[in-house]
Amino acid sequence: MAKQIALFNHKGGVGKTTTTFNLGWMLANKGKKVIIVDCDPQCNLTGMVLGFKDAKRFASMYGSNGVTNIREGLAPAFESRPAPIEAVNCESIDGQSNMHLLPGHIGLAEYEVPLGIAQELSGSLVTLQNLPGSLHYLFSKTADKYNADFILVDMSPSLGPINQNLLTTSDYFIVPMFPDYFSAMATESLASILPKWSAWAKQGKKSPTLRDAIYPFPDKQPKFLGTIIQNYRIKWKAPAKAFQEWIEEIKRGVEERIIPILRENDMLLPDELYMKARPDEAVQMHVNFFSPGSVYDSFISQPLIQLSDFNSLIALSQKHKAPIFDLSDDQIGQSGVVLANTKASMQRFHALFAELAERIIMLTGNADSY
Ligand SMILES: Nc1ncnc2c1ncn2[C@@H]1O[C@H](COP(=O)(O)OP(=O)(O)OP(=O)(O)O)[C@@H](O)[C@H]1O
Ligand SMILES: [Mg+2]
Repeated sequence: MAKQIALFNHKGGVGKTTTTFNLGWMLANKGKKVIIVDCDPQCNLTGMVLGFKDAKRFASMYGSNGVTNIREGLAPAFESRPAPIEAVNCESIDGQSNMHLLPGHIGLAEYEVPLGIAQELSGSLVTLQNLPGSLHYLFSKTADKYNADFILVDMSPSLGPINQNLLTTSDYFIVPMFPDYFSAMATESLASILPKWSAWAKQGKKSPTLRDAIYPFPDKQPKFLGTIIQNYRIKWKAPAKAFQEWIEEIKRGVEERIIPILRENDMLLPDELYMKARPDEAVQMHVNFFSPGSVYDSFISQPLIQLSDFNSLIALSQKHKAPIFDLSDDQIGQSGVVLANTKASMQRFHALFAELAERIIMLTGNADSY
């Protein structure tokens, strides 16, 4: 069964979409079959992957080939159509045959209110019983069709009912952050919202009405994989001082506010697994099998990976619909020393994304043996 990973932070513009695309591509490079799902009505991921610059291009894709996007996929549940939810015909991705895109739709926003009502009533209204389980059902059906190992869910920057649903019906979640005041503040609101959502999902799982729906509410307990902190300037091979201060502030916020809440709500993997996924850092931080819980809290609050500013690679990546770490010389379009510098930077990010993908494969692959 495909593992579903949500990329979640209600703070906007922190790298959710960029990470979904680049991480998906790297997992696919490693032989995993990946579906990236655009659950943001802004449709940034869809636009970027398919290179759309205007609404006309979206319209021509939507009408083209059966069920082609998230909204049409969900319509049987949300618009009470007498047809079952079917797998979406995903878009293939140039240059990466192991990855597919389940496209977004601006009209997904219209499902926010009915889903909110269905979730608020937590299954007491039979007419809405099929909504809370429908998103997960659609993704699973689509993942089966493409034989996927991973479903990466790109979420909108909000704390609305769709995100509540996506997070609580995923197997895992990652929290992307930028090293700034807003992300540091977000640690507080995340610590307040996550236990509420988790409590709601526990109730949902117990509700006979939701369990017996055509699209049953899935029995999930999402686990935190970690944060990703990115987009800072480097000085002498380390984050510049002002950025380093925010990185430390975020780590502190995660350790002191978020991790204890996740522990209380059973949203962490076994402590040792975090250590196994990052053995070198564990040695550096003197974390071992006999460490007390507080040492693990500090370890788990270390970002899964830190990525500096991609600089010109981000513009090239968007222009060529290719990952920041896999651009050809032609796509880079530079020469001499400038090209050599860009390629050196690209190789550094290649190594970092490879490490991130390995860590995620380890964290999501071994939990059963603990
Ligand atoms: N490491 C990075 N270096 C430089 N620019 C970056 C980096 N990561 C992301 N960006 C840029 O930052 C902006 C926001 O990134 P992105 O769209 O991925 O964030 P998001 O969290 O998905 O935003 P939203 O909440 O609006 O969906 C984009 O313009 C992206 O190109
Ligand atoms: Mg986005």
